[in-house]
Amino acid sequence: MPTIRFVREARDVNCRSGENLRVVALREGLELYGFKGSIGNCGGCGQCITCFVSIEGGSKDALSPLTAVEKVKLKNRPSNWRLACQCVVQSSVIVFTKPQSPPSNTKELIKDALVNVLPR
Ligand code: FES
Repeated sequence: MPTIRFVREARDVNCRSGENLRVVALREGLELYGFKGSIGNCGGCGQCITCFVSIEGGSKDALSPLTAVEKVKLKNRPSNWRLACQCVVQSSVIVFTKPQSPPSNTKELIKDALVNVLPR
């Protein structure tokens, strides 16, 4: 059973392999969206590009491959950014929500996650 470490929230969430990352985050009550996305988002269709996450650890195939939508929408974003609504969780992974507005202790949070969550 994969574990998702939501770094910003300091939450470890177990999910079934094959679950959608956005669905898991919302089910757990996590704030996936920034201000713009909280006002209005596409509901997971890959059109609003407000569900950014950065992937900070996990195996290369911890998430499903980039979708065609992501290849277009994330063209000018860091290579470790994904759209949560487009990701299927396949194994344990470290996820940073709202990477566009990181807190000052981001590096420490990620370091802690890498030591304490992976490998599983
Ligand atoms: S929820 Fe709109 S792009 Fe992901």
